[in-house]
Amino acid sequence: MQKIVIIGATSGIGLHLARLYAGAGRLVGATGRRQDLLYALQLEYPNHIITECYDATGSQATAHLDALVQKLGGLDLLIYNAGWGEPMETLDSAVDTATVDINVNGFLAAVHYGWRYFTTQGHGHLVTVSSIAGNRGNRHSPAYSAAKAFQSIYFEGLYIKARKMKIPLYVTDIQPGFVDTKMAKGPRFWVAPVEKAARQIIRAIERRRRRVYITRRWWLIAKLFRWIPGWVYYRIG
Ligand SMILES: NC(=O)c1ccc[n+]([C@@H]2O[C@H](COP(=O)([O-])OP(=O)(O)OC[C@H]3O[C@@H](n4cnc5c(N)ncnc54)[C@H](OP(=O)(O)O)[C@@H]3O)[C@@H](O)[C@H]2O)c1
Repeated sequence: MQKIVIIGATSGIGLHLARLYAGAGRLVGATGRRQDLLYALQLEYPNHIITECYDATGSQATAHLDALVQKLGGLDLLIYNAGWGEPMETLDSAVDTATVDINVNGFLAAVHYGWRYFTTQGHGHLVTVSSIAGNRGNRHSPAYSAAKAFQSIYFEGLYIKARKMKIPLYVTDIQPGFVDTKMAKGPRFWVAPVEKAARQIIRAIERRRRRVYITRRWWLIAKLFRWIPGWVYYRIG
């Protein structure tokens, strides 16, 4: 049975990924800080969900992740989905620090664990849920877009590293546009239902895609972000 860990599976995209994978007969290790939600998820799929409650930014995060993998009895796919950001008009150092903690430091701790685990066993698949926001800076949440850019650029580097190793080690960067969860704040367009987003993410993982936009039409925005000249972007970004 395929063993999957989803970091950040208590709500939104991660919860739907966990439900779809568990419903398809996979063994899922679900994490998050909200114990009551983890418990409820475990009750939904008693034979397919195992939980570990912890803060992905905490000093014990790697130990908790390892404990979860021991409970699962192995690991084939690790999805770093935990994330947070808060749009704001002013520059708030506490918000920026918390944003970097979960989207960069927590991400690094999990990815290093997964990389070590997969290179030792000789196969595996690492996935991060970054964001379309990582394609360009924006004034509403500069730390969030910078942190998500870090994830995407880091994963491009890991992808090259994995290719050179010539073992079945796969790396996938998921870049969602707007998905209908509590994370999607402010003016929104092309908002995807969360279940549709989760299904597209699973398909991309199965196809071992290097990078994918969710939903697919967001590739157009990613391209626009890259090619739109500064003198235009700085009026709207
Ligand atoms: N929704 C969108 O429009 C959108 C767009 C682009 C990218 N994304 C990305 O998609 C991912 C999922 O977000 P979502 O939209 O599904 O939002 P969400 O419902 O708020 O889910 C966020 C998940 O991350 C977990 N998490 C947050 N901080 C954590 C911490 N310190 N330790 C452990 N877990 C933590 C949360 O669990 P606990 O609160 O229980 O800890 C929750 O399970 C995020 O990385 C987000 O940046 C979302």
